[in-house]
Amino acid sequence: MEQYIINGGKPLRGIVDIYGAKNAALAIIPAAVLTEEPVIINNLPDVSDINILLDAIAQIGATVERINRHKVRIVGAGVHTHQVDFDYISKIRASYYLLGVLLGRFHEAEVAMPGGCSIGARPIDQHIKGFEALGAQVTISNGTIQAKAEKLEGNHIYFDVVSVGATINIMLAAVMAEGNTIIENPAKEPHVVDLANMLNSMGARIRGAGTDVIRIRGVQKLHKTEYTVIPDQIEAGTFMFAAAITKGEVTVTNVIPKHLESITSKLVDIGCDVEEFDEAVIVHGCEELQATQVKTLPYPGFPTDMQPQISVALALARGTSTVTESLFENRFKYVAELARMGARIKVENNTAIISGVKGLSGAHIAAPDLRAGAALVLAALSADGTSTVDDIHYIQRGYEEFDEKLRALGADIRKVQVEENKKGEIKAV
Ligand code: EPZ
Repeated sequence: MEQYIINGGKPLRGIVDIYGAKNAALAIIPAAVLTEEPVIINNLPDVSDINILLDAIAQIGATVERINRHKVRIVGAGVHTHQVDFDYISKIRASYYLLGVLLGRFHEAEVAMPGGCSIGARPIDQHIKGFEALGAQVTISNGTIQAKAEKLEGNHIYFDVVSVGATINIMLAAVMAEGNTIIENPAKEPHVVDLANMLNSMGARIRGAGTDVIRIRGVQKLHKTEYTVIPDQIEAGTFMFAAAITKGEVTVTNVIPKHLESITSKLVDIGCDVEEFDEAVIVHGCEELQATQVKTLPYPGFPTDMQPQISVALALARGTSTVTESLFENRFKYVAELARMGARIKVENNTAIISGVKGLSGAHIAAPDLRAGAALVLAALSADGTSTVDDIHYIQRGYEEFDEKLRALGADIRKVQVEENKKGEIKAV
């Protein structure tokens, strides 16, 4: 397995370019097989979740041609099955978007139950409610979800909770349904809007993505397109917090500053200075961060995917902060790791109470999930001494060249191959 070795204490300085949004691309790749015509996708991040999904659509018969590391050409004409039950696909959450796509295209789909980062129970009742409203019968058995419809008909759907996944899945299933679909209380995340824009470029008629009501007028067919994925809001936010946590100064380029507003606003609250440009932001760290209160919320609120990163900053801030996680019940697993680096954090129900300390010290830690893993790397970069970070495969699910990009900013971070011996001790190989 691979591990990072980090010698902390160096402020990060320089410029970092942000890649395409993983969570937008995870919706846009399956959308490409809603048509038989070629679809070219630019600005794809080269991360493991994306590569697994590309393999999955190839396995069901799509032609997938990697034009270069960040550009792919997909032709869905050869898709010959509505069943996706490979073991590996269930490891990624976005596997369930194939349900919306295959149901939309063939009126029948059978997909392995989704996995993903273990950050909570992650029910799919809203997806099922939406498919049923469109006329599908949905059953779950033997670890797969089956959805089947004589025909799909538009309907009025009200989501009881704001869900990115359910909004995307119902958009995918409804674009070619007969008549009009209205989705109320949808997610408004930038990647929901990006998917709507991509589908519209294929001939779909979707209005209102990014607002409180999405209206979809069903079309009979979608056609070819070439589409560029938006920059990754969370990758950008992670590097913005890297500047704050290491007391450095980082210019984060190829971003849409509007998507970063809640992140920028919290950085300013805790004492950083943030300059905004058309496609870049510069974060100037400060000598002493200040405590604040944070609650994660659906967009445009503070993203749950940035919760561990801000908690690391607050672990180093003057005073006592609270961080309330309102989306996922299991997103504080990194707290025990941070405590081993000297952080003072107490978790009560869904709130972390953080008493800031002057500094952290290096330790042997492990990434519990994708964003928490990235946040622990930032903690190690600020810490005194050497840290080793295990289970970095989680980080590689969503951050392309994370260590390379950090090194280019002056971080002392190495990726090494290690093997675990029978006693559970780890040694470099
Ligand atoms: C997406 O997950 C992202 N994943 C997550 O990214 C992100 O944390 C999350 O949205 C919130 O922004 C992808 O886009 C692939 P939800 P998703 O459905 O769609 C509840 C990352 O690190 N809910 O918006 O699974 C649910 O339990 C990650 O990149 C229901 O109750 O999230 C949660 O409390 C991990 N019933 C809330 O809604 C449902 O049917 C939001 O979940 C669906 C969701």
